[in-house]
Amino acid sequence: MAAPAYDIVIRNALVATSTACFEGDVGVSGERIAAIGHGLAQGAREIDATGKVLTPGGIDAHAHIAQLSGGGLLNADTWESATVSAACGGTTSVVAFAAQHQGMDLAQVVADYSALAAEGSVIDYAFHLIVADPTEKTLKEHLPALIDAGHASIKAFMTYDKVRLRDEQLLDLMAVAREKGAMVCVHAENHGMIAWMAKRLVERGYVDPKYHSIAHPRVSETEAFERIVRMSALLDQPVTIFHVSTKEGAAIIRRARGEGLKIFAETCPQYLFFTKEILDRPGIEGAKWMFSPPAREPKDQEALWRALELGDFQTVSSDHAPYAFDETGKLMAGPNPDFRQIANGVPGLQFRMPLLFDAMVSKGRFGLSKFVAVTASGPARLYNLPNKGDIAPGLDADLVLWDPKRQVTLEDALVRDKTRYTPYAGMTVTGWPETVIRRGDVIVEGEALRAAPGSGRFMRRKAGSCAEPTGRLEAELDPARNFGATLL
Ligand code: URP
Ligand code: ZN
Ligand code: ZN
Repeated sequence: MAAPAYDIVIRNALVATSTACFEGDVGVSGERIAAIGHGLAQGAREIDATGKVLTPGGIDAHAHIAQLSGGGLLNADTWESATVSAACGGTTSVVAFAAQHQGMDLAQVVADYSALAAEGSVIDYAFHLIVADPTEKTLKEHLPALIDAGHASIKAFMTYDKVRLRDEQLLDLMAVAREKGAMVCVHAENHGMIAWMAKRLVERGYVDPKYHSIAHPRVSETEAFERIVRMSALLDQPVTIFHVSTKEGAAIIRRARGEGLKIFAETCPQYLFFTKEILDRPGIEGAKWMFSPPAREPKDQEALWRALELGDFQTVSSDHAPYAFDETGKLMAGPNPDFRQIANGVPGLQFRMPLLFDAMVSKGRFGLSKFVAVTASGPARLYNLPNKGDIAPGLDADLVLWDPKRQVTLEDALVRDKTRYTPYAGMTVTGWPETVIRRGDVIVEGEALRAAPGSGRFMRRKAGSCAEPTGRLEAELDPARNFGATLL
């Protein structure tokens, strides 16, 4: 008998790529997609996908895992718990953070985070490097070497006391990114406005979680976006703005892109599915929905969807920031903290894909190819993961087989991460990831997880085309127009 032509053949699926949807078979050999067609030859393993939808594995490009937060608190997940939750929801690659805090040696930080990921991750992973202490050594030695070693994106905070950078420090960081080739990602909110609002609110007794949303005025996003966009223009350094929450923020990004600036953006499910009213609950319960920037208004949700439709935003990431609703996490400061003392963030790795499948495919907003674009091919392009994010021969066989009819009501009992709660509890989604394949291995089958901790692989990345400068220098940076000063 002839040997099977493929290791796996997924037969008669509705195959969804970022550009097309068609019925067909997908053959997998080893770690790669080997063929797409009709009537493919026999596989060692045959998966009947009649009535099912096949998409690329999700790429979640913004997740805080086993990380010391901006507020200085270690979040709840291990690499194993976070990535198991991701895999169960159809995500096969994650870009998390290696987070430097004041006084920390960046090279050591990255070595430490890398060791944890290598030991625990069940999906493929990379890091954005959080730089909070841009010393000479960090900027001149560690960062260039780390970018060369395949960490081609940097994250900077414009708020949070412990990690935020001043404008000059941001510019220093962007100059290194430009020289070495790296994307700069930014948490952009005006720190002073937030601190001032929060202090006034608390002084006057407005301490409940719902006031978190008032402490982050919309204009704090607007101001910080304008500032980072102009810094990007000054240095001709591409920037990705994380977790866009407002209509005005989306408009700034659209305008910047219209000017030809390389401004990229993500939003997150919590901004698409919640408004600030979600925080308004009895007692401290609202803490479960406290994240930054906060959820906004219905008009913002519409603007964010529109920005995704128009391509102004390239991805929807979870911003998974897991803190349990107990004294180890959200209630660290006691049972009745004021909103400033509550850790910011929600768990999201597990349900990002099902929530978006439901909204975009089952409920029909923009359809399957756009779902693939924002969950997989968009982040793959933005962060230069050329083997990931789509279904085509030669790419990594990261695949998700969906039952498009299965209805699931999300609840805390389903949660696989260590927060043991989901902010989406009670929402019913249509469409569920049944089988998840990571580089040719079936890692999720129904309820069963078959991936060993440590089987995920580091994704070494160069900068890629999104992170390349345009070459258009502002006059003051251009030696031909600035009396010959070489500044970059
Ligand atoms: O509330 C959030 N987003 N927490 C995580 C830290 C961050 O802002 O990236
Ligand atoms: Zn952030
Ligand atoms: Zn974040």
